[in-house]
Amino acid sequence: MLVHLLKFQPSLPTLGLMLYLCHMLFFFFSTAELIQNGRLLTLPLEAGDLHSLLPDEDRRRLYVAMKDNLLSTSLDDITQNPRKLFWPASPDRVQECLMAGKDSELDCANFLRVLQPFNQTHLYVCGTGAFNPRCAFIATSIFHQAEYQTLSYSQTECGKGKCPYDPFQKTASAVVDGELYAGITSDFMSRDSAFFRSLGRRHVIRTEQYDSTWLQDAQFVRVAPLSETDNPEDDKVYVFFTERAQEAEGAAGKVLYSRVARVCKNDIGGQRSLVNKWSTFQKARMVCSVPGPDGLQTHFDQLQDIFILHGKDKKNPLIYGLFTTSSDILNGSAVCVYRMEDVVRAFKGNFLHKEGPQYKWAEFTGKVPYPRPGTCPSSTYGSYSSTREYPDDVIFFSRTHPLLQEHVLPLGERPLLVRVGVHYKFSKLLVDRVEAVDGTYDVLFIGTDSGLVLKAIHLPREHGQSQEVTLEQLQVFQHKSPVTAMALSKKKWLFVGSREGVSQLALYQCELYGQACAECCLARDPYCTWDGHACSPYMPTVRRRNARHLGEEEDPLTQCVRQGGEEQIQRFHQV
Ligand SMILES: *[C@@H]1O[C@H](CO)[C@@H](O)[C@H](O)[C@H]1NC(C)=O
Ligand SMILES: *[C@@H]1O[C@H](CO)[C@@H](O)[C@H](O)[C@H]1NC(C)=O
Repeated sequence: MLVHLLKFQPSLPTLGLMLYLCHMLFFFFSTAELIQNGRLLTLPLEAGDLHSLLPDEDRRRLYVAMKDNLLSTSLDDITQNPRKLFWPASPDRVQECLMAGKDSELDCANFLRVLQPFNQTHLYVCGTGAFNPRCAFIATSIFHQAEYQTLSYSQTECGKGKCPYDPFQKTASAVVDGELYAGITSDFMSRDSAFFRSLGRRHVIRTEQYDSTWLQDAQFVRVAPLSETDNPEDDKVYVFFTERAQEAEGAAGKVLYSRVARVCKNDIGGQRSLVNKWSTFQKARMVCSVPGPDGLQTHFDQLQDIFILHGKDKKNPLIYGLFTTSSDILNGSAVCVYRMEDVVRAFKGNFLHKEGPQYKWAEFTGKVPYPRPGTCPSSTYGSYSSTREYPDDVIFFSRTHPLLQEHVLPLGERPLLVRVGVHYKFSKLLVDRVEAVDGTYDVLFIGTDSGLVLKAIHLPREHGQSQEVTLEQLQVFQHKSPVTAMALSKKKWLFVGSREGVSQLALYQCELYGQACAECCLARDPYCTWDGHACSPYMPTVRRRNARHLGEEEDPLTQCVRQGGEEQIQRFHQV
């Protein structure tokens, strides 16, 4: 174990100095140390290309979507009894794929790209099928039958509009009420970026095709259903992505913007125009930037991951966004946090408008038709029971004005966490809300393209800004492969995927912070507390009993204060 001091490298400093430096201190563990300490289990996998991890808490299984394989293993110990469903592309398709000039190893295989829980008994899974996407309902019970099985072509269905052809196009999907919402490129050449809804009883519906005002080279990151009111007719599905920004294009060439877009769940398209196309699709820019020395903002323009943290207020989740810079020279990564109400406000703002090909995008100042485009049809609160009944001018305006003017800015108008000029970039993000001895913390788990997991918290500071504190850096993949998937299970395990396989990491290991109260407190890990004898996991109910038993005088934090650094410990209390 190494204790890193970011800026200083003192020999064993005094406790006072330790306290002073405490927000520059974090713990680093190598893969070997993590395994030795019993904190990490690894399941090496040969298939490579691990795209997604899906925990099934009821059955205690973890599903793993890879190249040509769907895996099921134990959620309690991934090394126990992994089961494999082999699902290759059909040999004919592989031949055609090779004839089309694609590479057999890199492209002409079945890269699983959609892995969704469908109902209590089935998963819905799609793969690229050597540039011929296929999907299948897979009963979770099949994994009981044998250790190794094969899914035949006849057990699959057409995956067009559900899964991309090209495995290297970023894709996002979600099953909502038995329907699949998918952000994909839906053609062989990957020119048709689209957001689809399929499966279920309703007609397939999508974004306008080859219309750059709707989507342009979109790389999809996350699809999520979010309700904003108590009226289910108003429910929307959100999609987060990065695309080429048509409103910024010009002399500078290609400019990337990250976006949040949404559609109404009850959208069934227009009647005369936008037939089987979304009639409520709208999008806004999400900004994550820092001011540079010249006063210009440096933008983290490429969205990599989104984590939606639902708190007590179900209508107002926090949206954590993980961004990187598209430049490889800078190697910049950042986490920005957005409030749902700020997202919703952007969608209530003004529209952007383009008069013609030679004009620039500008605020639309004319009369917006009624009902305002983007409004979900509601027979309870409005006079339209379906989007097909909307007046032609509403549909026409929707088709030509999908873009809103207002930007969605992060909390505090700056990132929560920034890394620049390091030898890695962030790739995945998860957040766990933890009740600690001194309040509630959001603990960030960040995967990097160098096989690391960073564990970090943020502490509020004066002037309303927050300060990031890295608690640990954990090398969960020995060969430093990029983290491609992460999942959390019941506040205990973090599952991490890369082309090396799956790693299962305990979220905390309190005893490693040391034998003394001060060391335990200094680690600032919200999962841990000094219980009077040892650094141990904080259990909200157990703690209360202990505290009563020990009495106020024996409060562990008070103990630590007595040992030194009063001022620092007070900060713990302020949070
Ligand atoms: C789940 O969906 C599958 C595929 O449509 C269906 O065959 C199965 O009966 C469903 N299971 C339940 C419990 O509804
Ligand atoms: C950026 O990160 C890559 C690995 O992702 C590394 O090879 C490269 O050296 C880094 N560049 C800088 C300037 O740190």
